[in-house]
Amino acid sequence: MNDQDAPDPALEELLKEARQAAQHSYSPYSGFRVGAALRLTNGETVTGTNVENVSYSLTLCAERAALVQAVSRFGPAIRIEAAAVANLNNAASPPCGACRQVLAEFILPDAPVIFPVAGGVRVMPFSELLPLAFDMKK
Ligand code: THU
Repeated sequence: MNDQDAPDPALEELLKEARQAAQHSYSPYSGFRVGAALRLTNGETVTGTNVENVSYSLTLCAERAALVQAVSRFGPAIRIEAAAVANLNNAASPPCGACRQVLAEFILPDAPVIFPVAGGVRVMPFSELLPLAFDMKK
């Protein structure tokens, strides 16, 4: 799917959950309020938000916060079948490179990822967002 197509309703719903999660953002340093929602193959949806730190590099992104929450709640066998990222700043926010590598550990290659871009949202399969992820098994 590309920018012109309307995303499917389930992805729109996931995006809404990501936006809701962003309400809890702890981002006093950047003011950038991000939320992420992950739909798991077990039918559960898990959300997360960014948690900043005065030692800036220790900041945790929303996507990784959601992932840690998913594994903590449901265990290491979880698989992500769809992901959404949103922010409350009306800005583009594709998942950062670090989050892509961390998501790669648990996300299905074909999982759609929806995120804000200038003028709307974009949906891409995860494998297009991070081709050639580092993987010691391959
Ligand atoms: N941030 C995320 O939560 N996810 C991303 O993929 C990129 C950036 C957060 C980190 C920081 O709190 C703020 O956005 C500004 O970089």
